[in-house]
Formats: sequence, C-alpha cells, structure tokens
Amino acid sequence: MAESIHMPTKNKQQKASGKEEPHQTLGRNVSPNKYSLSVKPDFGSSTFDGTVVIDVNIASATNEIQLNAAELTINGAVVISNGVVQQAVVKVDPDNERIVLKLANDVSHDAQIKIDFSGTNNDGMYGFYRSTYVDGDKANVLLTTQFESADARKAFPCFDEPEFKAVFDVSMIVPSDLECVSNMPSASSTDLGNGLKEVKFSKSPKMSTYLLYLGIGNYDRLSDTSGNTEISVLTTHGNSHMADVPLQLARKFLDFYEDYFGIKYPLPKLDLIAIPDFSAGAMENWGAITFREVDLLANNNTSIATLQRVAMVIAHELAHQWFGNLVTMEWWNDLWLNEAFAEFLGYKAMEFIFPDWQMKREFITEDTSAALSADQLSSTHPISVNVRSPADADTLFGAITYEKGGSILNMIESYAGKEIFREGLHRYLIKYSYSNATRADLWGFMDEVARERNKDVSVSKVASRWIDLPGYPSIAVSRTKSGVKLEQQRHFLLNNLSDATSWPIPVNYQVSGEDHQLLMDGRTASIKMGRDQWIKLNFGQNGFYRVAYEGDDVDRLGALIAAKRVESIDSWGVHHDLFARAISGRISAESYLDFVERYCKDADYPTNSSVLGGLSALSNALPKGKNERAKDMLIQDGIRLLDKLGWERKSGETAFDTMTRPSAILELGFAGHQPTISKAVQMFYAHMNNGEEIDPNIRGAVYYIAARSEGEKVFGLLKERFKSEKVAEEKARLLKAMSMFADENLLLRSFDFAMSPDVKIQDTFKLTSFGAYRNPAAKGMILKWTEDNFEELKSRYLGGTNMIGKFVEALSVLDTRQDLEEVIRFFSQKGMMRDDMKQAYADTTERILANIQFLEANK
Ligand code: BES
Ligand code: ZN
Repeated sequence: MAESIHMPTKNKQQKASGKEEPHQTLGRNVSPNKYSLSVKPDFGSSTFDGTVVIDVNIASATNEIQLNAAELTINGAVVISNGVVQQAVVKVDPDNERIVLKLANDVSHDAQIKIDFSGTNNDGMYGFYRSTYVDGDKANVLLTTQFESADARKAFPCFDEPEFKAVFDVSMIVPSDLECVSNMPSASSTDLGNGLKEVKFSKSPKMSTYLLYLGIGNYDRLSDTSGNTEISVLTTHGNSHMADVPLQLARKFLDFYEDYFGIKYPLPKLDLIAIPDFSAGAMENWGAITFREVDLLANNNTSIATLQRVAMVIAHELAHQWFGNLVTMEWWNDLWLNEAFAEFLGYKAMEFIFPDWQMKREFITEDTSAALSADQLSSTHPISVNVRSPADADTLFGAITYEKGGSILNMIESYAGKEIFREGLHRYLIKYSYSNATRADLWGFMDEVARERNKDVSVSKVASRWIDLPGYPSIAVSRTKSGVKLEQQRHFLLNNLSDATSWPIPVNYQVSGEDHQLLMDGRTASIKMGRDQWIKLNFGQNGFYRVAYEGDDVDRLGALIAAKRVESIDSWGVHHDLFARAISGRISAESYLDFVERYCKDADYPTNSSVLGGLSALSNALPKGKNERAKDMLIQDGIRLLDKLGWERKSGETAFDTMTRPSAILELGFAGHQPTISKAVQMFYAHMNNGEEIDPNIRGAVYYIAARSEGEKVFGLLKERFKSEKVAEEKARLLKAMSMFADENLLLRSFDFAMSPDVKIQDTFKLTSFGAYRNPAAKGMILKWTEDNFEELKSRYLGGTNMIGKFVEALSVLDTRQDLEEVIRFFSQKGMMRDDMKQAYADTTERILANIQFLEANK
C-alpha cells in the first residue's frame, strides 16, 4: 500500500450506548402535556405565522425555560402561571437550536407557555416545506411536513425529543378551497371571510413531536373503511387512478398488525399521502403517513418489482403505527427499535399477505445480505450508538440500523421461537403504550415469556451483544478426527484486518439431513459427525454470520446444490458466502468460477439470480484480459436463463420468473450479447416511435440497453419523454436510462441534466447513483463531476434530508490509488466535511481501497 494512502479514519469514536450515556437534552424539569398549535401559511410569500400554547408541568421552580426552535423568528413569548402573565425575554441559541425564555419571577407546577412565531416554507424537503407539481398545465404547490429526526423545531417551538410525549390540538387557517390534513380527523371548519377558513382537528393521543403532521393542498382522495378506521389515499389531482392498489394494501396490512400485535389501531383514521417532493421513501407520521409518489402509487401497469416495493413501504410504515408511534424509543440511540422492527415486521406482514412471494426468503437475500455487506467495513458502527444530539440521529438511517437491526431480530426470533417473540412484543407494547421504552424492557419481556414456557433461551444475553458490537463473525469449519471444529473470527472486507471480538452465536445446522442447534459461546466449538457425512451451517440462513468451509466440505455441498437436495435458501447461502470470499480476496476468482460452473448451472431462484449478479460483478471488477471467463460464463448463464424464461411474460408464471427475466436481459445486453441488444433496441424504437407496448417488468432493461448501445441518437428522446411523463415509476426508468450512456461526455451531459430544474432534487441521485453502480463509463467522470458540483449539492441537501451521503457513496466504484488519493484530498479540504456525510465518506474510502486490493490480488 502506498505511503500516501491512509486507512480511512473513523468519524468518531463510536461507543455502544445505553440510555445512561450523557446526551444533549432539554432536561426533564419542564415537560409538556399539551400543545395547542395554530398555523397560518401565506402561499404568496411562502411564509407562515403560528402561535403555540404549551401546557407544561414544572418539577422545581425556575425562571428559565428552554425549548427547541430553529430557522424561526420568535415574535413574542409569555408564560402564564397561577393566573399571572409574565412577558418572557427570549434568548436565541442557534448553535443548539434552542430558545431560552427568561422570566422575572419563578414559575412552578402547572404553567402555559404562549409563543408567536413565523417561518419560511422551504424547498429543501425538511421541516414545514413546499412541494411543487404541475396540475394539468398549471404550476401548483402543496405544503407538508417532515420532522424526523429533529426538524419539528423548524416549524414551531417545542420540546423536540422523543421522550416528551404530549397531546396535540392543531388548527390551521388556510384559503377556503384547500384541504388540510393532520394526524387526527378535522373536527370543525369555520368560514373566516376573505376567502379564508379555520380548520380545527380532534385532539391527538399522547405522542412525540417528530410524528406530528401538517399538510395543506388540493388532493384527490380515495377512501375505504376497515373496522372503525377510515383509510384514505391522498394524491395530487389526476393520480387517484393509482390509489386503489395502495388503499387495499393498507387495509390488509392494518388487519394483519391488529391481529399480530393483539392491539387495535388506535386512531379513527389513517391517511396515506403521496408527496411530489420527498427526501426519504416514506414517513410514519401517526395517522398521516407521507410517501414519495413512486413508493405509494400503483395500478396494473406497475411492474412487480415496484409493486413489491410499494407494498413493502406501506407494510413498514404501518408497523411503525405501533412500533415507534404507540411505543417510542426513549432516546435516539435506540432508533433501531423503531426501524429494525418496522423493517422486520414489514416483511412478516408481506409474507402473510402474499405467501407466493416468499418474503421471508426475500428478507434474507435482500436485507440480510445488504447488512452483511455494510457491516464488513471497519468503518461500520454498532446498531446502538451513542447519540448526543437528535441531529446525530439523522445519520443512523442506514443499512446497520435497518437491515442489520432487522436481521438480528430475525436471528433472535429463530432462536427464541416465533411465539415467545410475538408474546414478548405484545406485552411490551401493552405496557409502554403512549409512552417510551428501551431495548432492555423488550428483551426482559421475551425472557419472561421464555421462562414461563420453560424454554432455555436467554434473549437479553444473546441480543445485547449483537446490538452493542460492530461487525459480525465468519465461522470457519474444518474437519477433525471425530467431526468438525468451528472457529469464529470477525469478518472484514479488507482481508488484512482482524480483531478479537467474539459473539454468542445461535447456530442452526444440518448434518446429512438432520437438524441441530447449538449456542456457540466461545471462539471455538466442535461437532461430532462421521467422515462421510455432510454439514451445512447456518441452516435456513437466519444467522447473521458467514461460513467458510475448508477442505472438500464445500464440494460436498456443491454436489447437493446441483442435485437440488438442499433448500433454495441454503443453496443461496453457500453461493453467497463463497462469492464474499472471492470478492475479498480470500479465495481466487477462479475457484469461485469453478464452483459456479460445476454446481450452479441449473440453479433455481434465488441462487440463479445471485449467480447472475456474482458473475456480472466479477466480470466488471476483474481487470480487462482477466475477466473473459467470468464474462463468458455470464453470457452462457444469461442465455440459459432467458431461453427458459422467454421475453414474454407467461400467464401464471411465478413472480420470481417475472423479476429474473429483466436481470437476464440486462446482463446479456450489458455483456455485449448482440442478439439481445438488437432485440432490445428494436423494441425500444417500436415503443417510442409507434407506441408499441413493452411489459413494464422488462421496460427498464430495454431502455437501459438502448441507451448504452444507441447513445447520442436517443439522448434527446429520453430527455423529452422524461420531461413530459407523469407517472413516477416511468419517469424513474427514463431517468435511470439516461445514466447508461457508454460515452463519457454524453454521460456527463446526463449528470448535468440531473442537476437541472427539470429534475426534482429528490431524484438527482437516482440518475447519478444508478450510473455509478451500473455503468462502467462512470468511473471515468464521476469524481470530477462530483467535485465540480459538490458545493451546489451541499447547499441543496440540508436539514435531516440525509441525501448528501448518496453522492459520496457513489464514489465507491472508483478503483485506483490516484482516485483514492484525490477523494481523500478533496474531502479533507477545510469546510468540506459535514456531519451528515462522515459515515458515507468513511465507508466509501474503505470500499475504494478494497477495490484496489482486489485488482492487485487478481493482477
Ligand atoms: N422513519 C423513516 C423515515 C425517515 C427516514 C425519517 C430518514 C428521517 C430520516 C421511515 O419509516 C422509513 O424508514 N422509510 C424508509 C422506507 C422503508 C420501507 C425502509 C425510507 O424512507 O427509505
Ligand atoms: Zn421506518
């Protein structure tokens, strides 16, 4: 390694933490019971005025009250206690996003704080913001909020920490022709004259500030009732033809959760609102869930992949209505209690509603595999980290919190048993309803249920290590005289790293078809078995670890895979672990290819799809001249798959076939397989010029291949189509197609287009990231483009949007020392780094280094 390249430094010493760690907080002396919030936006000037009256309880007498507020103007504040009204002197502390109210005399017990304030409806997708769209041919605006983690304070002064739960009494003064939405149904609407009305909402249950919702606009609404709950999907004008699918999904998931948790959904209504400008995918505001359009709207022209995503997002946000909204983590260090559960339970709901999709298996091949990938970096962090300020929490919304957190829950569920897990959740939710809890409370209930049922498991002991430690183990399996020895060691992507961590691993395994379990408590363990028997570790793939078989055990498994004598998920797991060993240089690319050639030719889903991905990754990652074999195998494999599947969707085929088909087409096209390219290009023109239909499931693949092989000829076409297209999913396809040009200059024009006013700032990364990950030409231009645009990007993505990191992460496709040095130089410049990109930067530099090492190892 060249002297000038340093290992990426960690952004901060991240320590596992319980709630006892000190963190920035307003303190507990003054706590809110109820907010009466009234807002009055002015659409003309994009500003709003507001008044908030907060009923508080004061534990010990004080003449100073602190609240959170940021990006607001405070017009006046009084505190009323014991019938005495005191004017407060307001001190603004922008660094800590607080205001301090100073009073002449002490106040105690019950008091009311009344603050008048005003602010701006920004275009940055955080706080109380503007979203713009075209309705017919008229530009239109709606107002909406996004408060998690710490942006409620940008809409009104409040005690903006999750533990301060309070009742919200909301009202809005708006133009008479607009509709207002909040967490609760509206209780009254009063005409104020002058074209204005005042809408008052019913009182909310006790809840955290980050879950409050305010929305004002022209909506189309489609509703249905489920039990006592009115469910509605709200869209901008003209989109309600895509509202019925999500509405029916929401009904089914709501039923599922009421039954699974054994607790009814507590609010009278549930709105699912499609927002044209949205930074994340969706937000679980209680009773008023907001979504990106592409993640909510669907009809029968929607591809299965997008439909699955839509269902998944709805299932995830509905899980939060209990896990997160009814019971909330005490502090942001336990954010994973919200997100990991919503992720895991979302899959559970999907599995129940759509048994054909086998979502449990999908959870492992999608979430667990993404988590294993993220958590193999030395820059990773524990699931639970010390969070000092709520803004720190913004950077925790990533693969470790969601996918690793969810995967650990899956492992715990399979260790404790489904019924103990579920009953533990039920007791936890009942006990802490309308209140806050920590993970210790949760594990405690699971242990309690296990004890009652005489089951010998210790959830708290096993789970807490996995939550507190960064990384995960790889278990090496080697033969001994009497059986096999297991030895665990932390797995790093960079194979020259190691450390001494050891995990309590619930290991499920099969020996020649017989199931066994053991809890591996130390570094090593042994299993007795015969010479001729075979062993498969991580049987069912519910464990969060990799397995490395030594000697010929991997070939024994290979033979079983070829003979289809193991479950599809176990065959997937063997291949997946082997590929990870190849990409991290632990085995040669050749021996991986040997394995695939011998045993995986005729594999079923999901192994077939994983093999295709593995061959594609290797043929891109290996240096030219060394990648022929991988590329040949990729083409052979793609042809075999596509021959079997055909280009046309067959009636009654499985969703797996429908989703594997576009992968096969795309890989063949990108690998340069001429017949596939010709067919895709011909379909593309027939569609664009003569309106001939293309199955939405393969339409993306067709566009991407056409862009790559036709270049300049289709640039304008794609761009114009993108501009006039209304449907979010199709717009995303067109935009992604523009990231596929083989010519660097053309690609640069596309990247620049992604920054133009024609592309919403929520969508820019779709083009740039897809290009980075799927187009080899991006390696030649992405670094310079990123540097040239970085200041602009930083100014666009502020607040809790958490989007800037995506642009940093796209650089992880670079693979030369020179580029790594330049990345380090660029981000080390004074003022360049910001808190919300530190994690992405650390991960990215490490990935680049791994790419370099891979190339060197395979020279
Ligand atoms: N609570 C999050 C939304 C959020 C994300 C708020 C980031 C603040 C910062 C929401 O429940 C969520 O997790 N949304 C996911 C979609 C989900 C299906 C994984 C998202 O937006 O990507
Ligand atoms: Zn979530």
